[in-house]
Amino acid sequence: MRFPRLVHFPRNLRSIHTNIQPLNLYSKSPLIRPHNPPLSSDIRSSIAKPDDFLFWPNFFNVEESKILLSMALWKLDRVDSTLKRRKKGKSSSISQNPVRVDELQSLFDREYGFEDGHYDSVIHNYRETLLSSLPTSSSSNLKSTLAKLYSLLPNLPPFDQQNIPPEGTITHLLHLSPKGEILPHVDNLEASGSVICGVSLGAERTLRLKMKDEEADGWDIKLTNGSVYLQRDSIRYNYEHSILPYSSAGSIWNDERLKEGHRISIMIRDTPSKPAEL
Ligand code: OGA
Ligand code: MN
Repeated sequence: MRFPRLVHFPRNLRSIHTNIQPLNLYSKSPLIRPHNPPLSSDIRSSIAKPDDFLFWPNFFNVEESKILLSMALWKLDRVDSTLKRRKKGKSSSISQNPVRVDELQSLFDREYGFEDGHYDSVIHNYRETLLSSLPTSSSSNLKSTLAKLYSLLPNLPPFDQQNIPPEGTITHLLHLSPKGEILPHVDNLEASGSVICGVSLGAERTLRLKMKDEEADGWDIKLTNGSVYLQRDSIRYNYEHSILPYSSAGSIWNDERLKEGHRISIMIRDTPSKPAEL
């Protein structure tokens, strides 16, 4: 019988995927570096609780990344009024490149209308849209890939794959141009709850976490394609996060600067809890 299997699928999925052990800020990994090792590697000296930042470096493989990226570009292009529907004509030579991550860059094949500054001037050179529903023709691959993502969110009741994005979540698609950056900020307190989950697709970028009004405490995380991070509570409220420009020293890993390119993040937040009714 199909129907009961569909109903139970997300629950099974959740238990499978929570078994993938994420890294945290205190994990030893070439993708995570504390700004000030003697201070911040000592858990007791930091108010950052280990479980308040979780990082899955290879959560999605290249095929899954392509599925998500294509959906995001389709949604973003629909609301991009300045988009010139003209291919740059470079894509065929790029797609012959054997490096698979370059294959993802070849999906960015138009001249996009990036905005210069966010309403609050935190995000520069970007396009953004809300993911309120999936295209009706969405493939079951897209639905199951997204279900795998939403299954990471803590405290979310079981949801049906046909109902994506699940109730209680707000999902944004954010396209950062190669020239783009996100300045240090804490996400608006009224607009979202205590959990922020981000998927990185396309070019690599450095995410910087820095304790508010504190020079010493912080980390850089190298956001690779297909990685997912989740920040909540102590990190979400007491640390500012930023996405560094390629020109920053923080964009150098192992003596090499990250390769400039387009990046799309899928940002999922929980809806803020409403004040109790009187
Ligand atoms: C944001 C933000 C981070 C990212 O949109 O508020 O911080 O990983 N995004 O794109
Ligand atoms: Mn943010």
